Amino acid sequence: MPEKPSRLLRPRTLAAQALGSIDPATKAVVPPVHVATTYLRDPDNQYRAGLVYGRPDNATVRQGERVIAALEEADDALLLGSGMSAATAAVMALPGPSHIVASAVMYWGFRNWLATEAPRFGHRVDLVDTTNLAAVRKAVRRGKTRLVWIETPGNPLWTITDIAEVAAIAHRAGAKLAVDSTVATPVFTRPIALGADLVMHSASKYLNGHSDVIAGALATARSDDWWARITTLRAQHGLILGPFEAWLLLRGMRTLEPRVKTASESAVLLATWLRRHPGVAAVLYPGLPDHPGHAVAARQMTGYGAMLSIRLRGGARAAIAAAARVRLWKRATSLGGVESLIEHRASVEGPSSPCPPDLLRLSVGLEDPEDLFADLDRALRAAGGARSRAKRARKSPARQKQ
Ligand SMILES: Cc1ncc(COP(=O)(O)O)c(C=O)c1O
Repeated sequence: MPEKPSRLLRPRTLAAQALGSIDPATKAVVPPVHVATTYLRDPDNQYRAGLVYGRPDNATVRQGERVIAALEEADDALLLGSGMSAATAAVMALPGPSHIVASAVMYWGFRNWLATEAPRFGHRVDLVDTTNLAAVRKAVRRGKTRLVWIETPGNPLWTITDIAEVAAIAHRAGAKLAVDSTVATPVFTRPIALGADLVMHSASKYLNGHSDVIAGALATARSDDWWARITTLRAQHGLILGPFEAWLLLRGMRTLEPRVKTASESAVLLATWLRRHPGVAAVLYPGLPDHPGHAVAARQMTGYGAMLSIRLRGGARAAIAAAARVRLWKRATSLGGVESLIEHRASVEGPSSPCPPDLLRLSVGLEDPEDLFADLDRALRAAGGARSRAKRARKSPARQKQ
């Protein structure tokens, strides 16, 4: 395998050149896709290339992992079949039934898994407001809590958890800190440098960036027993990412920084414009000075990301009506692609979610922000107009006279 990347090169350079990799056989500047499931054993019974079989390992996957480890300043990284398989593998690799403290505001799919499936493995999970350090201190039990899991910015309210402070609380109690950094990306936050033990990404989002790969990544601060068990579980359960997906992900990561920075600049503009919009009651975006997490975000992030949510004055009905009227934004789930997406999150997350029914989640892509705003403005106004007409129609003539 090639050597570890130079610490002197900046992340944007490392990503743009996929660590400067050149195919040794052909000198191609684009790496091949290694699809082999099995490898030749040397006559003396050794496997000198270090690869044996495709379930534990793959050369294309390894290359993607090396890029992610470099970007996260991690000791090592693993690629898995999805963000969910990465997150659940990390929990299943804990040494035994454990107490887990996790953010109440986070990607709903993993929150549901923690609430319904993790207890089947004997784990006890407490969901707390991890933006409130006193609440985290109270929830963590010395010697019992093995894992604190946070997502920052947290879906879909974009709550900000102080990584360094929560790492200190977790470590004092003898627990590890894992951070779902999908939305921040390594461009804006380096959780390991702030004290986290493990970083997780749904690489289906910004790392790949083109809405055409489902993938998950884990990056570790150190290759300890937990990491060894995660690696073994990935091999035993067959959770490794496929080689074609790993290759697409490698290609997507080459443009990570320019993509994420451009989308984030547009998100700042949209958040500023939308907060003055008559149909919008609130804009949830950590880049706005009145967001409750703004000060922590300014400290631990180098940009505020490209995810924001709006709450509509007209409630759930107006939110669904506005989403129905966009033409440029795509009405779809997921985030972090080049195309902008809009979603009524409460329809997805159901009644147990902390997501308010009047909320629309916006994943800002790479289109011109003025076009994005014009489309949203028109949809919001049309939804507002439709709502007033429906209200007027509901009022009976008799009531109107009163
Ligand atoms: C923040 C976050 N974490 C994890 C996941 C799960 O990732 P995947 O869909 O790749 O399994 C998602 C997916 O939407 C997400 O948004």
